[in-house]
Amino acid sequence: MENKVLKIIKSRVSCRAYSEKKVSKAKVMAVAEAGKFAPSGMNRQIASIYVINSKRNVEKLRRLSNEIRGKDCMYGASTIILVAGPRDDRFTYQDCSCILENMFVAAHALNLGSCWINQFDEFFQTKNGLKVKKALGIPEDFMVVGSCALGYPAPNAPLAVKDRKEDFIKVL
Ligand SMILES: Cc1cc2nc3c(=O)[nH]c(=O)nc-3n(C[C@H](O)[C@H](O)[C@H](O)COP(=O)(O)O)c2cc1C
Repeated sequence: MENKVLKIIKSRVSCRAYSEKKVSKAKVMAVAEAGKFAPSGMNRQIASIYVINSKRNVEKLRRLSNEIRGKDCMYGASTIILVAGPRDDRFTYQDCSCILENMFVAAHALNLGSCWINQFDEFFQTKNGLKVKKALGIPEDFMVVGSCALGYPAPNAPLAVKDRKEDFIKVL
């Protein structure tokens, strides 16, 4: 079946190389808004979305990544949106994942590249990482389930949709 939304969902890919062109605040916020409208377990809305858009804060995260991993896990993205919720809540993973997927699809609909970046919860466990987490206003008892790197794809970024397993869907 063909449909505009289905087409966007099926053509989304993870982008791992970004150009230096800054994304407008309006587009960044439109992506965050899409996350905000994700479903949440029992409508408790326990998760929070942290839009890291200032050069200062984005570079702080990039430095942390370079310090710990020896590379920029954000692939040069100019914006990163962290999605976090209470570490001990049974719906934190599910709620945050729904938010993240909404944002990836929205980013693609706005011709932006995006990618799930997984490492920040780990980075925020180090002494320096904990300081950065605090400075960003993320509560100590929150875990960062994932984050969305956001930006314009670099001209050489591979953006081919991956094949899916033949038997992905089982109809019974
Ligand atoms: C839970 C989860 C964690 C991921 N973590 C990372 C990550 O840290 N870095 C990265 O480059 N991609 C990460 N990805 C993206 C996957 O590698 C990617 O979705 C997968 O290879 C399929 O490619 P596609 O998104 O282009 O369809 C993650 C995806 C998920 C769902």
